[in-house]
Amino acid sequence: MTSHAAFPFAHVPPHAGDPILSLMEAFQADPRPHKASLGIGIYMDDGGRLPCLESVRQAETRLAQDIQPRPYLPMEGLAAYRGAVQRLLFGADSEALQAGRIATVQTVGGTGALKLGADFLHRHFPAAGIWVSDPTWDNHHAIFGGAGVPVRTYPYYDASTGAVRFDAMLAALESLPPQSIVLLHASCHNPTGVDLSPAQWEQLIPVLQRRELLPFVDIAYQGFGAGLQDDAFAVRALAAAGLTFLVANSFSKNFSLYGERVGGLSVVCADRATADTVLGQLKSEVRGNYGTPPVHGARVVTQVLEDPELFALWTAETDAMRRRIRAMREQLHAVLHDTFGSRRSFAYLLTQRGMFSYTGLDPAQVDRLREDHGVYLIRSGRLCLTGLTTRNVAHVARCIAAVVER
Ligand code: LMR
Repeated sequence: MTSHAAFPFAHVPPHAGDPILSLMEAFQADPRPHKASLGIGIYMDDGGRLPCLESVRQAETRLAQDIQPRPYLPMEGLAAYRGAVQRLLFGADSEALQAGRIATVQTVGGTGALKLGADFLHRHFPAAGIWVSDPTWDNHHAIFGGAGVPVRTYPYYDASTGAVRFDAMLAALESLPPQSIVLLHASCHNPTGVDLSPAQWEQLIPVLQRRELLPFVDIAYQGFGAGLQDDAFAVRALAAAGLTFLVANSFSKNFSLYGERVGGLSVVCADRATADTVLGQLKSEVRGNYGTPPVHGARVVTQVLEDPELFALWTAETDAMRRRIRAMREQLHAVLHDTFGSRRSFAYLLTQRGMFSYTGLDPAQVDRLREDHGVYLIRSGRLCLTGLTTRNVAHVARCIAAVVER
């Protein structure tokens, strides 16, 4: 006879669902033919398909011609990959890189990088809290809160103007205790699509420095805002200013390698000796979390980043993805503008950048879009442009108009 008395799990509450991933599951289960997935941040092509990039296909083909064993990687990941990540983020001529003062580990996607960084910071700065933008990616709250780091917000998005509340943001950061952590989006802010301008970064950096705050930069959409190099502006400006900071990067979107979970965590330190010590501690966090990272995705990304021909091809592919997102912004805007005229402005679609736009639709309108029309947005009103295609954009615009006008 079995007994379940010791661990009945009776007190375990049901999972409330994840605002993004549960929505994706609901979309997949929806049988309606005209459904549109504008929820999760996944880049789809104009045929509504998840692309396999040509640069990735060629890298995989090369790897397949000389199939290698799959050893355990070192805890910090593949050495060539870690170097390639550093060059992509910081630039090959970066002083911090050349001085050896950046500790980089391969991580299980960008999410894994954030979690690893959160665990590392909580262990070594147990009193430090993190301030995230209001609003931010929902999972930032879960990751840092789950690691025991208290999460609070700083003002960011102004719903009335569609711009950044930059003065309020600066004032809030000015009032934080030293050794507070500040989560910053390098580009393509998730969920609003509203970024700081280079001039605003230049104003922000001295505040971070003077107040002894620790920036933690999330860069998950490099290439989708203004280009691979321009989207790294904030990372490079922070490094050039001599700050100590963390960067979590992801290749899920710009390589279309979601399921391979390829990311990195870099910690920019004051000097090489500190970076070496930090690297040791990051390895210890990796060991205690999942042992060592997976090998295949990192090999693919390294092939592309290290080979000039494949790198040029990948750059062209990220450029094309960015142009398609831009075209969808323009087409959605054009139909909504024709429908509403001066009654309502959708100009934000043209100024926001990256995969996401904050539409201003309220949760009830988002629910009606999903229930009545099969058009899926996050309940915050975040719309992912890459679920739009030249075939469905006018239809989606009419659905949005229908719920807004009701
Ligand atoms: C998103 O914001 O939709 C993406 O980053 C996917 C995810 O894991 O939430």
